[in-house]
Amino acid sequence: MKIATILGTRPEIIKMAPIIDEIAKRGIDQIVLHTGQHYDKEMSDNFFRDLEIPSPDYNIHVGSASHGKQTGLMMKGIEEVLVSEKPDIVLVQGDTNAVLAGALVASKLHIAVGHVEAGLRSFDMTMPEEINRRVADVASSMYFVPTVESAINLLAEGFSRRNLIVTGNTVVDACFRHLEIAKKRGIEEESLSRLDIENMDNILTLTMHRAENVDDRKRVTSIIEALKELDQMNIIFPIHPRTKNTLQEFGLFDELDSLEHVHIIKPIGYLDFLQLTSASTLILTDSGGLQEEAITLDVPALTLRYNTERPETVTSGGNILVGSDKDAILEYVDRILSDEEFRDKMKNAPNPYGQGDSAKLTVDAIQEYYEKGLLDIKAPEDIMSSFSRKMALIDEDITVREFETKNDALIHMAYDGDEMRFPADDLNLNGMMITYDERE
Ligand code: UD1
Ligand code: UDP
Repeated sequence: MKIATILGTRPEIIKMAPIIDEIAKRGIDQIVLHTGQHYDKEMSDNFFRDLEIPSPDYNIHVGSASHGKQTGLMMKGIEEVLVSEKPDIVLVQGDTNAVLAGALVASKLHIAVGHVEAGLRSFDMTMPEEINRRVADVASSMYFVPTVESAINLLAEGFSRRNLIVTGNTVVDACFRHLEIAKKRGIEEESLSRLDIENMDNILTLTMHRAENVDDRKRVTSIIEALKELDQMNIIFPIHPRTKNTLQEFGLFDELDSLEHVHIIKPIGYLDFLQLTSASTLILTDSGGLQEEAITLDVPALTLRYNTERPETVTSGGNILVGSDKDAILEYVDRILSDEEFRDKMKNAPNPYGQGDSAKLTVDAIQEYYEKGLLDIKAPEDIMSSFSRKMALIDEDITVREFETKNDALIHMAYDGDEMRFPADDLNLNGMMITYDERE
């Protein structure tokens, strides 16, 4: 078997590293293709170093460009590599342009696509990421969903449960593996070590780069107005290059940088960043990965967005959406600082993203699919034209496992009248409407 991984940005490198590592440990043939979307050392190379994975086999150097141009260049470059390498499966991760390009190209070459972190939905079609993740899901054949909630999103859109594998999120694997290593190594980046965070109180780690925040003058100004007033905090802000560029363009950078309680530094490596976040009183962010890391590291998070494709972090109590609303930001920072009970509740929110064995579960499933011949895309003569999904209202005590055994069926979805339920083996179906297929 040969596995190809496509990645291109900082979070993809971090979240695919545990899987790349797991594939290597099992001696499976693999190639890693970097799209070159992130190219600064501190947005790319440093993560291969910190996470101890080999440099990519290919880099197609697309660089920065508009969405259409960047995605088009990626598709051209990815196709050339996949045609010559002929992998059995292509892995893409998350919701960046690499995911869109990789999933489209591979599926049209009849290569199976495994979408790592599939099924997330913000339902906000103004986000480029929402478009990418939806299209990638349509073109994929294996879905590594981090939570049951993301599985339900796919089931509600009519996807089959057959190829959904609930794995947790590899960000937990990366965090757990590297936090101790990071603490032993200490801080390397001079800009951070200079701040002496070990002897600093009330650290607020800030990251923001989401287009809808930083490219919007009104929203970014409102966030900055809040930051100015937060002088009870030590704000450490490793600034994303996109954000630095737009703040400079809007003439907002210098004033923010001159504030005594705001420390703007370059993006830092993963090991330094883990030390910073784990020493923080709170995290203020619009990053997807950071919402997950905050709950993994037991640090309260305030998210600078009006919606999130990580709603589990909110319902489990570790994350609050404050949008770009100055008053909401100030109110919740104050509450986290002054109300111990409130803060502890946020810190102790259960982590919905698994135990740190997500990479293992992912590669287990890929191996199983490969061995059973399930990665092969079906030939036309093997495809039935009818859609065979059935529906039933269950009026007896019977679990999912019992129903599936008795009827030789696979249940896709269960609806209890209030909400959709993931058909876990032990779920009692009495009173529920289900959709199911008879097994092939
Ligand atoms: C991209 C992803 C986003 C992800 C983020 C992670 C898409 C649509 N967006 O957003 O989902 O959350 O990465 O960080 O795929 N730049 C540099 N150096 C670099 C990279 C970028 O200076 O190494 C600057 C360029 O001015 C560029 C801008 O940042 O135009 C934005 O970069 P881009 O890759 O387009 O989007 P991100 O905001 O990084
Ligand atoms: N991160 C880092 N150094 C930094 C800022 C972030 O190592 O200076 C890591 C962080 O730990 C997380 C990831 O980058 O795992 C998040 O990336 P980003 O916010 O760019 O993207 P998103 O997750 O929003 O797609």
